[in-house]
Amino acid sequence: MLRTRILKPSDVGVAAKLLKNGMLVAFPTETVYGLGARIYNEGAIRSIFTVKGRPSDNPLIVHIHQIEQIKEVATEIPDSFFVLAQTFFPGPLTIVLKRNVNVPDLVSANLQTIAVRMPSNEVARQLIKLVQEPLVAPSANLSGRPSATRPAHVLEDFNGKIAAVIDGGPSELGIESTVLNLTEKVPVLLRPGSITAQQIEQVLKCKVQLASHSSPVVSPGMKYSHYAPKTPIQIVRTKQELDSALSTYQEKTLLLSCKQIVNLPNHVEFFHLTSRDLYFHLRLADEKEFQQIIIVCDSEANKDEGLMNRLNKAAGR
Ligand code: TXA
Ligand code: MG
Repeated sequence: MLRTRILKPSDVGVAAKLLKNGMLVAFPTETVYGLGARIYNEGAIRSIFTVKGRPSDNPLIVHIHQIEQIKEVATEIPDSFFVLAQTFFPGPLTIVLKRNVNVPDLVSANLQTIAVRMPSNEVARQLIKLVQEPLVAPSANLSGRPSATRPAHVLEDFNGKIAAVIDGGPSELGIESTVLNLTEKVPVLLRPGSITAQQIEQVLKCKVQLASHSSPVVSPGMKYSHYAPKTPIQIVRTKQELDSALSTYQEKTLLLSCKQIVNLPNHVEFFHLTSRDLYFHLRLADEKEFQQIIIVCDSEANKDEGLMNRLNKAAGR
């Protein structure tokens, strides 16, 4: 393939045809861009793993456009799924359920479970509807790199390797969906995101367990390094730590903080730290050849569990 087409949202029909023909198409969702393929096209699913450089034991998320499609991909669906779906679908919540045997093993990397979400982005929903099949879609980035929140990011990683990207502008939320496992006795939060554990607990009226590397229920994705730019990241927590980091390094520095910081030395460029633009700034640092990224994790940043999770992973913690 020579060139990746950039399609307008009004060309969603063209994108659907490409997918039906077994090609890969990146599309916008409210979280990050997804790299889509038809759920029953095993060749296309294999190429997702190849072009991303994704380990074959890391399962994919299935995207549906209406709740009825859940029965096609999952089985023994608990009531708690429907309770959560009523509140949070469509939106940035992925739920892990028992897999329907019709779904190819490849999709869930041979696990007996399947992760499903219904995106709220209209273009994404229309696309799934037109294809008339659920779409599998990991984040549209090379494995290990920050997720793509702009069409330009998708092209940075996949130009000439996928058929098309639909330009839906910048992603609204900027970090990937919350992932919740409902296949055990208690719900387990596998990946924090914009929908918090507390919000889920309020709706389910029960405790949500937080997964850690040592817990028995983990997400295969947890063991891989993630979201990392090439530029090294240093996390600081206090004003003293920041001052000392800024005076130690004299190289071109990108500084991210929730609160504005003024009177900075010339080699430092400041940007606001938000989950929406985190990946944009991590990729910017690589593109503009910054020598380091300093991120201030103050009390405000600490309140956002999704943001903190991505920051720590991006910094290799
Ligand atoms: O917001 C999102 O979720 C984006 C957009 C495109 O929808 N997608 C996304 O996909 O972030 P990906 O592949 O980058 O991350 C999927 C995560 C991985 O950590 C994977 O291990 C986990 O979900 N996952 C998928 N299926 C699973 C399963 N059956 N059991 C446990 N974890 C699963
Ligand atoms: Mg990803």
